[in-house]
Amino acid sequence: MQTIFVTGGAGFIGSHVVERLLARGDKVVVYDNFTTGSYGNVPEDTVVVEGDIRDKERTENAVMRHQPDGIIHLAAQSKVGPSLERPEEDLAVNILGTVHLLEAARKNGIRRFISASSAAVYGHAKILPITESTDTEPLSPYGTSKLAAEQYIQSYARLYPIRTAGLRFANVYGPRQTIETEAGVITIFCETLLSGKQPSIQGDGEQTRDFVYVKDVAEAVLESLDNESAQGIYNVSSDTETSINDLLLELSRAAGREFSPGYGAPRPGDIRHSSLSYKRLHKETGWIPKVSLTEGLEKTMEYYKQK
Ligand SMILES: NC(=O)c1ccc[n+]([C@@H]2O[C@H](COP(=O)([O-])OP(=O)(O)OC[C@H]3O[C@@H](n4cnc5c(N)ncnc54)[C@H](O)[C@@H]3O)[C@@H](O)[C@H]2O)c1
Repeated sequence: MQTIFVTGGAGFIGSHVVERLLARGDKVVVYDNFTTGSYGNVPEDTVVVEGDIRDKERTENAVMRHQPDGIIHLAAQSKVGPSLERPEEDLAVNILGTVHLLEAARKNGIRRFISASSAAVYGHAKILPITESTDTEPLSPYGTSKLAAEQYIQSYARLYPIRTAGLRFANVYGPRQTIETEAGVITIFCETLLSGKQPSIQGDGEQTRDFVYVKDVAEAVLESLDNESAQGIYNVSSDTETSINDLLLELSRAAGREFSPGYGAPRPGDIRHSSLSYKRLHKETGWIPKVSLTEGLEKTMEYYKQK
């Protein structure tokens, strides 16, 4: 049995990662400050340490006490909006917090460090699908802080005996997602459809996104943790463009009701089309997304029906 230290383990993606680790018999230590995460997301047989990654001493002490075999770093200020309003806070959590964890890993001789990054590092890509060699031109402090954190984890891998992987997640969706996250539109649509209201789309609905189901993402995290050759930067995606109109159509089928959406003004600066190639991660670890959009949306709708 190995011990895995999961920051942000009480959050949306983190809670699915924790479930998978426990299911295979690992001991899991969740380190979280519960700003967006919740105790309800954390399974009972998990060790929970309440702490903030901005607190260097507390973070280092927690890692030292539990001597994990690996760190999965998912804790973050994970939203674009707040990063525009309070860029300093975004920087402190996403960059400084990552450095605190890297230091904790270095001081305790931890050899594996998997960190969540984001498709937000790319900005407006001209050619699709986006690969890891596509230029990075983040459009927000959030994307910038994620990119800087990636640079830190890579420099630690060059400096010290630590294997690091930065995973650039596309739009992750599934049960337990909160509204404000990057694929939060799915949560909003589920709740709107189930409450009998008509959903509203920003723009003409023909903008596309790459949606990837959260359990596939959790699997990609575990593959990167386990696979000795996973080192560097990887997209985690479905490599499929889905328009918001098609997404809503699928969701209304899953909800079992007709809809006629309202259309509002497009969001300023919104990316028109997006899809990411996951070939590099597949080549390194064999990972592929297994859950189709139809199946994933049905499971997500089911979750909101029972909530
Ligand atoms: N959800 C997506 O579509 C998506 C897409 C790209 C990247 N990501 C990245 O994946 C990771 C997980 O995202 P998520 O969607 O699960 O978000 P989330 O907000 O649900 O989870 C983040 C977790 O980190 C915790 N946290 C926040 N600040 C902290 C701090 N200072 N110290 C300790 N814990 C703290 C929160 O309480 C929460 O449990 C993040 O790094 C995010 O940037 C998510």
